[in-house]
Amino acid sequence: TSAQIGVTGLAVMGRNLARNFARNGYSVAVHNRTASKTRELVEEFGHEGDFVAAESVADFVAALERPRRLVIMVKAGDPTDAVIEEFAPLLEDGDVIIDGGNAHFADTRRRERDLRERGIHFVGTGISGGEEGALHGPSIMPGGSDESYASLGPMLEKISAKAADDAPCVTHVGPDGSGHFVKMVHNGIEYADMQLIAEAYQLLRDVAGYSPAQIAEVFRTWNTGRLESYLIEITAEVLSHVDAATGEPFVDVVADQAEQKGTGRWTVQLALELGVPVSGIAEAVFARSLSGHTALREASRGLAGPTARPLSGTDADAFADQVEQALYASKIVSYTQGFHEIAAGSAEYDWNIDLGAIASIWRGGCIIRAAFLDRIRAAYDARPDLPSLLSDETFAAEIADAQHDWRSVLGAATSQGVPTPGFAAALSYYDSLRATRLPAALTQGQRDYFGAHTYRRTDREGSFHTLWAGDRSEVQV
Ligand code: 6PG
Repeated sequence: TSAQIGVTGLAVMGRNLARNFARNGYSVAVHNRTASKTRELVEEFGHEGDFVAAESVADFVAALERPRRLVIMVKAGDPTDAVIEEFAPLLEDGDVIIDGGNAHFADTRRRERDLRERGIHFVGTGISGGEEGALHGPSIMPGGSDESYASLGPMLEKISAKAADDAPCVTHVGPDGSGHFVKMVHNGIEYADMQLIAEAYQLLRDVAGYSPAQIAEVFRTWNTGRLESYLIEITAEVLSHVDAATGEPFVDVVADQAEQKGTGRWTVQLALELGVPVSGIAEAVFARSLSGHTALREASRGLAGPTARPLSGTDADAFADQVEQALYASKIVSYTQGFHEIAAGSAEYDWNIDLGAIASIWRGGCIIRAAFLDRIRAAYDARPDLPSLLSDETFAAEIADAQHDWRSVLGAATSQGVPTPGFAAALSYYDSLRATRLPAALTQGQRDYFGAHTYRRTDREGSFHTLWAGDRSEVQV
């Protein structure tokens, strides 16, 4: 028996991915360091398709048809390198290793280069959608050689999620680390989406005075409109859930300290390196970090500030409508920033990423899947060189309509002391971009004053310096 694909690392993501391949008619070799896991999988799910259980690394490699395709589903970092080193010596020219973990794209670039020198294709693949996605159809973001995609692409297209128009949610993102880079930015956007939703919730609670159950209803309604998305849908589920032990809303019994595994932080670190302002994503990462500083929060609890005074009746309902506008406008800004980062990464590493194709494969399967992404796809398909999503006429018009309410919501949040770092960062980004003059001119003056760092003028070419300590005449440098 020879298997068309192999999966090693049978924790829940690996196991579900292997089952997905098998359910789609592929023969799948399965392997795990602890062999009992492999046997369990075949015992429990063997009826779903054609599995080949491999006890040893050698058996696993021998079970695969050539060119071999092996998917590694282990913890990102050192374990990935360890597994690669176990398998690579047994592989032959043209075989393909696929890393489906959340690797840092710089590690993927290094691994791809090393393995290429040894004649092996390495495909760093972002996979989004959690356990359910892995089983029923994830969004898949593979990066690697054209040759590897030719051998792998059709299988990935088969097991991937399908968008509303039936298009598979997978595309060949580009060479080497591009797939993991795009997955990283997906997660940064995921953080921003979640933060914006969290702020909308808090405003509905404190300013509109709604209960979690009422807010769940508001999200359900929003989910029938332009905000329709997986994250809005599950927000309603979480908010309407009641804790069995106490009878309290679930959201009130959960400790308010958000954790993170690192991909959001990487998105911001890279943005800093690339010089891309992703302020909304950064605020989302910092908001999680701040929430975890329990001692600092405890020590700050007595600080002065207003207490929110909830609205009622139609005022509350009108405010809720404004929050929808603020959330939508801020969401457009987050995606604008995320796509800017992908464009910058693509230029920096020569990846030639098709932004419309990325929006397209995020329409289904992944955590940020949303109706809205079809419009981003359309915007980039119409104009692949779009300087920014905000320069798309449709999005610009929507923000124009939303901005009055967006500003009012931030006004209410500020005067009532409800923290809204995500909404505020998004609006500041928008206002900064549209400003004809920024105070950066003053910053340049200060730099020239204290450090002779020079400045450029609006009316003449060249670099200039003012003799601040002397007669304040200007010299060209
Ligand atoms: C996905 C998710 C997933 C990731 C979490 C972790 O696309 O399926 O992004 O890859 O495990 O969302 O994020 P945290 O940093 O919040 O743990």
